Amino acid sequence: MKSNKPSKHREREFGVPVPGEILEQERWSQTALKKIPDGHIDWQQLFGRQAPIVLELGCGNGRYMLASAMWRPEMDHLATDILPVVIRYATRRGNQRGYKNLRFGVIGGRELLSEHVAPGSITEIHVYHPQPFYDQRDIGKRLITPEFLALVHRSLVPGGKFVLQTDNPGYWRYMQQIVSLFFEFQEQRGPWPDSPRGRTRREIIALREELPVFRGWGTSRVDLSSEEAIRLAEQLPPPVFNADRRLQALDALERE
Ligand SMILES: C[S@@+](CC[C@H](N)C(=O)[O-])C[C@H]1O[C@@H](n2cnc3c(N)ncnc32)[C@H](O)[C@@H]1O
Repeated sequence: MKSNKPSKHREREFGVPVPGEILEQERWSQTALKKIPDGHIDWQQLFGRQAPIVLELGCGNGRYMLASAMWRPEMDHLATDILPVVIRYATRRGNQRGYKNLRFGVIGGRELLSEHVAPGSITEIHVYHPQPFYDQRDIGKRLITPEFLALVHRSLVPGGKFVLQTDNPGYWRYMQQIVSLFFEFQEQRGPWPDSPRGRTRREIIALREELPVFRGWGTSRVDLSSEEAIRLAEQLPPPVFNADRRLQALDALERE
């Protein structure tokens, strides 16, 4: 008979189970990509096989990639963030679950795509709740810019998928203005069917606070070459918007 008792092998955050189950230590894996190799990453060498590649940029504690790696063993996954501490959490969980199709590394999303990813090589790129940066002096740190979208466009295989999500209305309005110039983009109404309580830690927090969450996905425009995408990016506005400081209060919950 199935027990309803919580298992010591299952973890939760904010009451929502963390995907996957903690294995006995002898079955743990090594998901840390301790040093990003110089030049383009050789995916076959990294994962020991040839498989479609999924990237997540600004992955925080890695919840979505833990789920995706479990649900889609036929895909290989790399998730990165600029904060070593969140990558340590993510790596520990990935290791404990024994995933071999998942790596975590410390590097900015822009640097990863511009320096370490060969054009036309990635099947999916996911960005959930990019930091809005509330202080006007930090506008230059915002990840979603026209140049970044041109890099995502360049990195994806033909028909590759770009997934984008935020709970920041100002950021979303900015994204809506420019994303569909690079991608055949559509909004996802309501939570992703695979994660009704949230794909990521920040989404879970936003849903608990009953904030609107804006989600969308698209495929690269095939009528736009990489060169045209770069030229287009040069003509588009930078991410200047009011990030609404009231939302900053939620960041403290994220760090708990
Ligand atoms: C609001 S948190 C969201 C984390 C996670 N995606 C989620 O939804 O729970 C934003 C994350 O982006 C990271 N970040 C900020 N700028 C970045 C950049 N340029 N490249 C990669 N990650 C970045 C931050 O360190 C932080 O972990």
